[in-house]
Amino acid sequence: MRGSGLRKSAYTQGKESELAMEMTKRPRRLRYGETLRKMVRETRIDKSSLVYPMFVMEGENVKEEIPSLEGQYRYSVDQCLYKAEELLKAGVDKVILFGIPDHKDEVGSGAYDENGIVQKGFRALCSHFPEMYLIGDVCMCEYTSHGHCGILKEKEVDNDTTLDYLARIALSQVEAGADMVAPSDMMDGRVGAIRRKLDENGHETTPIMSYAVKYASAFYGPFRDAAGSAPAFGDRKSYQMDFHNRREGVKEALLDVEEGADIIMVKPAMAFGDVIRDVREAVNVPIASYSVSGEYAMIKAAAKMGWIDEERIMCEAAVSAFRAGSDIYLTYYAQELAGCIDRGIIG
Ligand code: PBG
Repeated sequence: MRGSGLRKSAYTQGKESELAMEMTKRPRRLRYGETLRKMVRETRIDKSSLVYPMFVMEGENVKEEIPSLEGQYRYSVDQCLYKAEELLKAGVDKVILFGIPDHKDEVGSGAYDENGIVQKGFRALCSHFPEMYLIGDVCMCEYTSHGHCGILKEKEVDNDTTLDYLARIALSQVEAGADMVAPSDMMDGRVGAIRRKLDENGHETTPIMSYAVKYASAFYGPFRDAAGSAPAFGDRKSYQMDFHNRREGVKEALLDVEEGADIIMVKPAMAFGDVIRDVREAVNVPIASYSVSGEYAMIKAAAKMGWIDEERIMCEAAVSAFRAGSDIYLTYYAQELAGCIDRGIIG
């Protein structure tokens, strides 16, 4: 009753102390003071779990802000090196690279060209910052003139024809210096196809992080602006998953593990905590979640309006992904989160 400032009748006081005597369990006991709260914390995160998505484009000395992703840029290769240096200084040593090519065609040939933009990015990052861990997003949508994630037959993406292309893309990224590949296309069987191709070429120790559980989501909107990868017609619902489904997430994850995926990713993150948890419990490999462009854009926009506290919301969203079961977190806020970890705001 400390601090209540109210005088109680003898009757009420009696009742309260009776209740207090019975009440041996007081969850609040573990909430007094930051030291104790940190001691009993259930979820801990550190900078080694963070991956930063980066966009590279042709040209020189280009750093172009992405309108729907304030604070995020498309970098020419020389500029992406400055960003990499900044990230490393902040303690973020993992990036996933997306290429924005100058030319697109029906079969996305820029994606597996050894002088393609993403390959140039890998070579530069690799030689300047060997300590940086480089992940390649393996997909075709940024490179195809129609913006779909595979090879078209009529008006539909043809699964089996696409597999061979994806395997070639993965191999070309690894040959350019990627340490890990992350297929995000959602074709059936692509993990197996990529594994085989990498193994045949002596890359049996290169891990695959599969975007196994990837939903057809409006949360990717700003990314498609950033990469100019919106489909020219139709949508991605015949390959990306229906967001009404949970069990199907487990099915996809199990299949990819069987095909040789080393890490399973769930995407988006923020609205899919239940799926992250299900997948965490279904498989024994590390789980990644991707806090996608729309999640970042929503926080940025609301913060700009002065309606929310950007840093606290960003931290809560990140911790929620780890609490749900993620081991790895891909986020446009990687550098800022690293700062919050340094300052002890989360961790
Ligand atoms: C490529 C790809 C996409 C994203 C990651 N890889 C776009 C899409 O599937 O449309 C989305 C990332 C984001 O929104 O931040 N297929």
